[in-house]
Amino acid sequence: MQSVKGKIVLVAGATGGIGAQTVKLLVSSGAIVYITGRNLAKLNQLAEACRISSDHVFQMDIADEVSVNRVIDNILAQSPVIDILVNATGIGIIKPMESLSSDDFQKTIQTNLMGAFYLVKAVLPSMKIQKKGLIINIPGILGKVPMAGAAAYSASKYGLVGMMQSIREEIKRTEIRITNLFLGGVDSPFWDTIDLRVQKEKMIQAEEAAKAIWFLCQQPVSGVVSEMVLQPFNHQAI
Ligand SMILES: NC(=O)c1ccc[n+]([C@@H]2O[C@H](COP(=O)([O-])OP(=O)(O)OC[C@H]3O[C@@H](n4cnc5c(N)ncnc54)[C@H](OP(=O)(O)O)[C@@H]3O)[C@@H](O)[C@H]2O)c1
Repeated sequence: MQSVKGKIVLVAGATGGIGAQTVKLLVSSGAIVYITGRNLAKLNQLAEACRISSDHVFQMDIADEVSVNRVIDNILAQSPVIDILVNATGIGIIKPMESLSSDDFQKTIQTNLMGAFYLVKAVLPSMKIQKKGLIINIPGILGKVPMAGAAAYSASKYGLVGMMQSIREEIKRTEIRITNLFLGGVDSPFWDTIDLRVQKEKMIQAEEAAKAIWFLCQQPVSGVVSEMVLQPFNHQAI
């Protein structure tokens, strides 16, 4: 394992269930963490709990390219290197086709796919200069295996996987590593707005999902974990 001590890590979606737990683990391992999310109050609360400097806290709407570019420019002005990008943003709209509106579809693609595109496009040039870096996205298992009601969500996540796999081909002569994390159900606020009967007690704990990300962040540069699959024990889809 390679320590994250002193590594510059950007966690987007730091206010979420998985994001916040990831930030806590990384900070406690000595990483220098920048955090983003839309909700400034939640960001400040997390920053206070983890003793993250206010200079490292940025309100960012990943669905808005101007917002993403502004934040990344600000971070790169402070630190020209981002060693690790963890994209833990995302929304889930799970509805059957008869109630899935085109707005639902658009919003999901805009956040989960266009947002990831804006973020990676903004961070990648600085990694290319360094010829190294690690980008972790969380397509989730619905980026690999379909589920009824997940047309919009899976479209965004399969798209994310395809986009990152294609980018991987572009950067293969560098030491920039790309990891796609396929998580099964994780007990987090993600499910709060989803009208589906789920058994949260059988899901992966957000802290355990965060440990997987923390583990990925510590992989030695001599290898790359292209993908990792972590599912609840009794709910294995693949
Ligand atoms: N929970 C699961 O079962 C599960 C399973 C597989 C994959 N995943 C994926 O894992 C990632 C994290 O999920 P989670 O469970 O931690 O969900 P969560 O608790 O709902 O957190 C989602 C995060 O995304 C942020 N976000 C949403 N829309 C945003 C926007 N337009 N701009 C900036 N930030 C935005 C939220 O921040 P604000 O609301 O503060 O802006 C929050 O920090 C997502 O990509 C999700 O698809 C989750």
